[in-house]
Amino acid sequence: MKKVLVTGGSGYIGSHTIVDLIENGYTVISADNNSRSTPGMLEGVEKITGTKVKNYKVDLCNFDETRAIFEENNDIAGVIHFAAYKAVGESVEKPLLYFHNNMNSLINVMRCIDEFSVPNFVFSSSCTVYGNPDKIPVTEETPRKNAESPYGLTKQMGEQMIEAFAAAKKDTNSILLRYFNPAGAHPSALIGELPIDRPQNLAPVITQTAIGKIPMLTVFGNDYPTRDGSCIRDLIHVCDLAHAHTLALNFLIEKKNKTNCEVFNLGSGDGITVLESIRAFEESTGIKLNYTIGPRRAGDVVAIYANNDKAQKELGWKPRFGLGEIMTTAWKWEQYIEKLPQHLDLSPHLLN
Ligand code: UD1
Repeated sequence: MKKVLVTGGSGYIGSHTIVDLIENGYTVISADNNSRSTPGMLEGVEKITGTKVKNYKVDLCNFDETRAIFEENNDIAGVIHFAAYKAVGESVEKPLLYFHNNMNSLINVMRCIDEFSVPNFVFSSSCTVYGNPDKIPVTEETPRKNAESPYGLTKQMGEQMIEAFAAAKKDTNSILLRYFNPAGAHPSALIGELPIDRPQNLAPVITQTAIGKIPMLTVFGNDYPTRDGSCIRDLIHVCDLAHAHTLALNFLIEKKNKTNCEVFNLGSGDGITVLESIRAFEESTGIKLNYTIGPRRAGDVVAIYANNDKAQKELGWKPRFGLGEIMTTAWKWEQYIEKLPQHLDLSPHLLN
C-alpha cells in the first residue's frame, strides 16, 4: 500500500480526499496544526472508513518539525499539499499573514520533497489564478492574469515556485489542481465544511441562512453583465474534487504525465449564477431562503467556469454529483453540526 502525506488533512477538501484515498487503497498520514480546522474531522474520516489516520500536529512553517515527518516516514510515495489559509477578505486585510503562512509552508514541504526525493507532488491551486478572464470557460492554457487578492497571489506564486522546482528537479513529478467553487459535503454528513467565524463562501452562507444562524443572505450585486445580473461560478462537489486527487496521484504513479508539472482544471464545466444557486437550494431542499440584493463585493470576478476536458480525458475524471446533491449534502451537514452535543467540539482552534 502506497503511503501519502496529506497536509491540511483536517480541512474541508483534505478530509474528503483522505476518505477517497483510503477507499482506493492508499495509506494516509496527515499534517495539520488545526489552526483553521478541528481534529474532529479526522474522527469523521475514521467513522466513514474504519481507518484511524495518524495526524502530525505541526506548523509547516517550522522547517524542523516538517522535516521530522519525512524522517519518520521515509517511504512517502506522494504529498498532497492542502494546508493554507484561504479567506479572500482576510487576505486583503492581512496580506503578510497570508504570504508568511502559505509561502513558507509550501517552501518547507518542497525542501523536504527535494531532500527525501519524494517522487510525486499534488498542489492545491485555484481558479483564482486566472483573475478576471477575458474568455470563458477557461482552459488550462488561459493565461494567469493579475490576482484579485493576496490569497490569489499566494496561489499564483505557489504555482510558479512549483514550476521552477519541477524544471530543476526532473525526478519529482507535480500536478497543480485548479479548483473552481468547492461545495457540498460527504453524503454521510460526518465530514463537511467548517467555516471560521462568519462564512464568506456562498454555499455555507446559504445553509447557515436556511438554519437561521445568518438572518438574511445578501446577493452581492445583480447588475453584472450576466443572464440575471448576478455573478457566475462553477460549483463542484467536494467528493468529486477529492476523487480527482486520487486519480491525479494514480496518474503520476503510473507515469502517464507528459511533463513533470501538469495542470488540471477541476470544475463541473457548468456556469451557474448566484441567484440560480439560491433557487437550486430552495428546489432541492424545499426551504425558502431569506435573501436580499446588496452592492457588489470588492474583488469578485464577474463570471468564471471551467473547461474540464483535460481532466476528463487524461485523468479519467467525471463529476458524479449534480447541483441538487451539492445542495442536499451541504444542508444535511449543516443540520448535523447544528444538532451536535456541545461536548463534541467541532469548532476550529484558532491560533491567530
Ligand atoms: C473565492 C476564490 C476562490 C477560492 C474561494 C475559497 C476568487 C476569485 N475566488 O471564490 O479561488 O478558492 O474563494 O474561499 O478569489 N456571494 C454572495 N453572497 C454571499 C457570499 C457569496 O452573493 O454571502 C457570491 C459572491 O459574490 C460570488 C459567489 O457568490 O459571486 C461565490 O462567492 P464565494 O463562494 O465567496 O467564492 P469565490 O469568491 O468565487
